Amino acid sequence: MKEKPAVLFTEDEIQKRVRGLGAEIGREFAGRAPCVVGLMKGCLVFMADLIRAIPLDLSCHFLRVRSLREDGAAAKVDIVYSTEVPYEGQDILLLDDIIDTGITLKFLLDHIQERRPRALRVCTLIDKPGERKIDVHPAWAAFTIPEPTKGFLVGYGLDYDEHYRGLPYIGTISRPGPADGRRSTLSRES
Ligand code: IMP
Ligand code: MG
Repeated sequence: MKEKPAVLFTEDEIQKRVRGLGAEIGREFAGRAPCVVGLMKGCLVFMADLIRAIPLDLSCHFLRVRSLREDGAAAKVDIVYSTEVPYEGQDILLLDDIIDTGITLKFLLDHIQERRPRALRVCTLIDKPGERKIDVHPAWAAFTIPEPTKGFLVGYGLDYDEHYRGLPYIGTISRPGPADGRRSTLSRES
């Protein structure tokens, strides 16, 4: 049977925080029509709630990346799916699920900056600054977990091996390890 997650952020806490973020983002982009670019699939539930809390005329776009890394270090990140995003001259709000090492986000920021947006801001559901390998900072994080955690976060769009995305809360399960048959070369997707 699947492990039952221990609750970390309740449905109520998440909903309150997302409403607050929506208002802040609305003020930041006031008078503009931002392109919200969601990093699939982990941003799915967060994006659905957040766009309804931002009081602006916005458009929605999606990206999917895959990163290969060895022992968490060297990484090759590829975009494996993208809708047509009109980056040039636009106000871009990139939505991420978790910023961990920062490797995925750095790759995406460079990719988007090359396309000369008018503005580029990042909003993440979870920021884990204690796990950074590259120095990147989101403009907004719904929740910040400063210390490296023992648990693996699931729920509210976050998965472990495609399970748990539909939970209305964010919880932790035991951190998947080499016992799961994972090799030192990992392929990571949201
Ligand atoms: P990084 O910042 O390049 O290390 O990549 C972060 C990505 O790893 C996130 O977008 C998630 O998809 C995944 N990830 C990292 N930590 C967790 C976790 O605790 N639960 C679920 N996914 C995670
Ligand atoms: Mg994932």
